[in-house]
Amino acid sequence: MKDLDIEITLSSKKKTIPPFDQLEFGRTFTDHMFIWDYTEGKGWHDPRIVPYQSIALDPAATVFHYGQTVFEGLKAYHTKDEQILLFRPDQNMKRLNRSNDRLCIPKIDEELALSALKQLIAVDRDWVPTVEGTSLYIRPFIIATEPHLGVEPARNYRFMIILSPVGAYYKEGINPVRIAVESDYVRAVAGGTGNAKTAGNYAASLKASESASENGYSQVLWLDGKERQYIEEVGSMNIFFKINGEVITPVLNGSILEGITRKSIIELLKYWNIPVVERKISIHEVQQAYNDGLLEEAFGTGTAAVISPIGELFWQNEKLAINNGEIGQLSKKLYDSLTGIQKGTEPDPFGWTLKL
Ligand code: COI
Repeated sequence: MKDLDIEITLSSKKKTIPPFDQLEFGRTFTDHMFIWDYTEGKGWHDPRIVPYQSIALDPAATVFHYGQTVFEGLKAYHTKDEQILLFRPDQNMKRLNRSNDRLCIPKIDEELALSALKQLIAVDRDWVPTVEGTSLYIRPFIIATEPHLGVEPARNYRFMIILSPVGAYYKEGINPVRIAVESDYVRAVAGGTGNAKTAGNYAASLKASESASENGYSQVLWLDGKERQYIEEVGSMNIFFKINGEVITPVLNGSILEGITRKSIIELLKYWNIPVVERKISIHEVQQAYNDGLLEEAFGTGTAAVISPIGELFWQNEKLAINNGEIGQLSKKLYDSLTGIQKGTEPDPFGWTLKL
């Protein structure tokens, strides 16, 4: 593997590391961060690790006006024998470049970016939490920094990595969440940016989740933007249903994010010889399966929460209670196996984890 030659400036004033049993998601940041700048004609240059701090940007920087930005999210886990494991980080770097391509941002060298990520975690390794259910969330991102109000790809960018020790993403943890099916707003449409990890998709999702939360729901179930019947995602996660013994997840159609947890769940199910299929699935089909007593389980998948079981779907004034609002057997098995591989307490037959 290639290594990136990084200039490292260590912080002279270390922060107090918060108690690992009281971590929220994404509110505390470690002592250092990584920066790599891009200038047209020069490429990516001056990779450096510096003390975590605010950054100064020109108010005309393209990122503020036209949202030319991409990000990733992955986690590092502390193992019982004091090692640090990353989960499929190569996949995040690949997806970052796919998002870059969609947003007209110059590609990064995936191996060098991974080398930067590993070096940053090594510097802040004391921040990788040790308590059950916690991890170090890693947020690589790229912003367009050129001061220019013309609508065109910027000439200058900044790639950064910040780190945050985290607990559960949803306050419910692994307990099932209540989900409202969204019929007014859509998250993305095929041909748009739904399959890129870019800020605009998340900004576009806020209005619907706000009103769902006012009505006591944790998140919304997104339907397709054209026919408003095919299921796409749940909140900021991919979604799976277990209907009559078969696991179904919406096929990637251009507006759905290609989740790394999604991909891993499909691979695990295939490995266990549990029937799994990627295809279009409509809300009507889910409702019919519920009426027929065949809807066994539903769950969201993502890096942040790993697996989030769905206990209730609210759709057209009807409440569909899934598995009596309890975590299903398969959801639990998937959660235990995947987090076991991630933490190094279960064998990793796929070679998914990378030791720091
Ligand atoms: C995930 O990892 O599930 C997400 O996409 C949520 C993240 C944006 C915090």
